[in-house]
Amino acid sequence: MMKMGVHTLATIAILALASSLTYASDPSPLQDFCVATNDPALFVNGMFCSDPMLATADDFFFHGLNIPRSTANSLGSNVTLLDVTKIAGLNTLGVSLARIDFAPYGLNPPHTHPRATEILVVVEGIIYVGFVSSNSNPTNRLFTKLLYPGDVFVFPQGLIHFQFNVANTTGVTFSGLGSQNPGLIVIANNVFGSTPPISPDVLTKAFKLDKNVIEFLQKEFYTAT
Ligand SMILES: *[C@@H]1O[C@H](CO)[C@@H](O)[C@H](O)[C@H]1NC(C)=O
Ligand SMILES: *[C@@H]1O[C@H](CO)[C@@H](O)[C@H](O)[C@H]1NC(C)=O
Repeated sequence: MMKMGVHTLATIAILALASSLTYASDPSPLQDFCVATNDPALFVNGMFCSDPMLATADDFFFHGLNIPRSTANSLGSNVTLLDVTKIAGLNTLGVSLARIDFAPYGLNPPHTHPRATEILVVVEGIIYVGFVSSNSNPTNRLFTKLLYPGDVFVFPQGLIHFQFNVANTTGVTFSGLGSQNPGLIVIANNVFGSTPPISPDVLTKAFKLDKNVIEFLQKEFYTAT
């Protein structure tokens, strides 16, 4: 048997640690598939698998993503996300898919996906997109692009981003996301619309705004749950 030196062992340990730290998406599956099953009394990191012998093609299928969604809301946009709750076969596979419909000048407002990078392709409209890097390296830098049909753009995992249809026509985009459950934090709703509300004293100081402005924003974004 080969006798490993301390340095060799240390190198192997560091390499193993480094490779485990490079995972930027959901954990890898340990079987071909693990079609999700719902048991409201039990929670795991992901969802339980149903019996693989009972899986059918419909567990991996969704019909109707070609149908435009209503954009008759104050933002003029509508996100249709096909995550593991819509396609049970996505469980453990680390991807999901979204369609976004835009009214003329419709906006998908600044938000982040805590668990997924997003890659978007424009099908219709002229979409002004952007993301902002985090507080270091480079500091809060805005990356933007004006996208036309066929153009593709990537939003790195966790970073705040937006999509704005600057055309006087409807817009349609499709996105792949690197998680079965990307998560969504819409910044304004999260900060000003929480239940119960964040103390206006905290937000007044944090945003350097008058308390009346904070209270106005909290009324705007409050959504009863
Ligand atoms: C998105 O579109 C669907 C179907 O057209 C509609 O039921 C839903 O209310 C819309 N969502 C928003 C936020 O407008
Ligand atoms: C957008 O198009 C509509 C219908 O063609 C037109 O009435 C409207 O003036 C246009 N708006 C702008 C800002 O160009």
